[in-house]
Amino acid sequence: LNSMGFRNAPLLNFALTNNRESFERAMQEVTRGFDKTWPLVIGGSEIKTDRVIKSINPSKRDQIVGTVCVATLEHAQKAIEAAQNASASWADLPGEERAAYLMKLADVMMRRRKELASIMVYEVGKNWREADADVCEAIDFCRYYALEMAKLSQPQRLGHVAGELNLLFYQPRGIAAVIAPWNFPLAILCGMTVAAAVAGNTVIMKPAEQSSVIAAHLMDACREAGFPPGVINFLPGYGEEVGDLLVRHKDVDLIAFTGSMQVGLHILKVAGDVADGQANVKKVVCEMGGKNAIIVDSDADLDEAVKGVIGSAFGFQGQKCSACSRVIVLESAYEEFKTRLVEATRSLEVGPSTDPAFAIGPVVDEDARQKIEGYIELGKKENSLLVQARVPEGLNGNFVGPAVFENVPADGRLAQEEIFGPVLAMFKVKDFDEALKLANSTRFALTGGVYSRSPLNLERTRKEFKVGNLYINRKCTGALVFRHPFGGFKMSGTGTKAGGPDYLLNFMEPRAISENT
Ligand code: NAD
Ligand code: ALA
Repeated sequence: LNSMGFRNAPLLNFALTNNRESFERAMQEVTRGFDKTWPLVIGGSEIKTDRVIKSINPSKRDQIVGTVCVATLEHAQKAIEAAQNASASWADLPGEERAAYLMKLADVMMRRRKELASIMVYEVGKNWREADADVCEAIDFCRYYALEMAKLSQPQRLGHVAGELNLLFYQPRGIAAVIAPWNFPLAILCGMTVAAAVAGNTVIMKPAEQSSVIAAHLMDACREAGFPPGVINFLPGYGEEVGDLLVRHKDVDLIAFTGSMQVGLHILKVAGDVADGQANVKKVVCEMGGKNAIIVDSDADLDEAVKGVIGSAFGFQGQKCSACSRVIVLESAYEEFKTRLVEATRSLEVGPSTDPAFAIGPVVDEDARQKIEGYIELGKKENSLLVQARVPEGLNGNFVGPAVFENVPADGRLAQEEIFGPVLAMFKVKDFDEALKLANSTRFALTGGVYSRSPLNLERTRKEFKVGNLYINRKCTGALVFRHPFGGFKMSGTGTKAGGPDYLLNFMEPRAISENT
């Protein structure tokens, strides 16, 4: 099988009673492990620490989902040494053999899919569907990169000159630090880790603090899949401490980062400094934030547009780099679209993510809640609040009702800054020129969407709406591995495409040998 034959893991159909019931059971069963303390894993050995992170259920603040040990700088140093010790034998394995470990990991996660999804429902407040999709994406990354590696393992013969043999091939970069965000806490951590590993690098996983428990489950799944000791090391801890050490360390050759623009730009800068004794220029794969827009044209199917904008703006409470936070509507459709959007937003029910009845769950933690509420207060002062969905009394979590604003100036903070919460700004424009200009007017270039039936405007959108992932007549979230290689440019990233055919090349160095025969 080559990657053209790749198929995405199918999502669970929760319309089926047996899927709902078995998911309920998994949700019950995982609570039995909530008293567990998860160790660091360095060179295959478990290490317990006194300092720990207690991970809290954002839907129910008095529930601890697990306790995870916190690595010190000495542990980070040990993890780098363990990765170095494992490096030569791992790099020497044929690519197909490394790929086989990814296939095993995919099988382990497929078997444990409900357990893994349940953990995310409790730890970061994903609803059932979003949590299941996160597991499927992690499985897809493993299978797709395994297939891609099989292709890249073969040296390519170049040229047609008699008496000359030219070969192009790829070698691993060395030691990879993987620094991940909490919002796709399994998929993104897993994707960056397995990409680095299948390419022949050994890896130190530094998960986000907020999602350390699901990360510990991923480490557990990697051990079950049988990766040799030291190939994948687990270093939970604080970004400013162990994250910073990894980025600066002379023996770390590759940094795969996904997270905010602020931290990403900082890492790009720091990684550019060459430490004493450093052999390689560090490669930084850097995926950052977004301020994504959907354009609604005058002839758009408004039923579809309302559904797509609501899903894109408020799915997982707007906490996706791909989320729509600006909707730009042509004047002639504005009032009708606004009426429908406002009613659709008002009807959203907010409640614990553990209960599948609620479309909108909590935001990840109290800091996030306060930050998002700060933007909503600012919007109320400087712009016009059209609607905010009600948060029922008596909940004990970090809930924010989805909010829609209008009268936001193009250079206003609600129009320019990534809020990373369920806050949407609506803009009225007189024509398609103005729509495109406004859509392109932020520092970011990650996703974008358009709802239109006009072939001319769609053609202009393809050419002029400059984002990494453009979606036409559909939502702007939910990229699938292989079908929608994902990633942006400008301040959204360094132009890499996770889940795409050229992603693994970022994790390897090309070499060419020319021989007179
Ligand atoms: P964050 O930038 O706060 O943290 C990301 C990771 O960086 C965490 O593991 C953190 O511990 C670590 N970190 C923090 N400071 C560090 C430092 N000084 N040195 C090294 N590591 C450090 O981001 P987050 O809040 O976890 O995630 C949300 C952000 O991620 C949003 O901006 C979102 O748009 C972005 N994101 C982007 C993509 C993408 O593919 N482009 C995907 C998901 C999320
Ligand atoms: N890959 C994720 C999406 O497309 C961020 O929504």
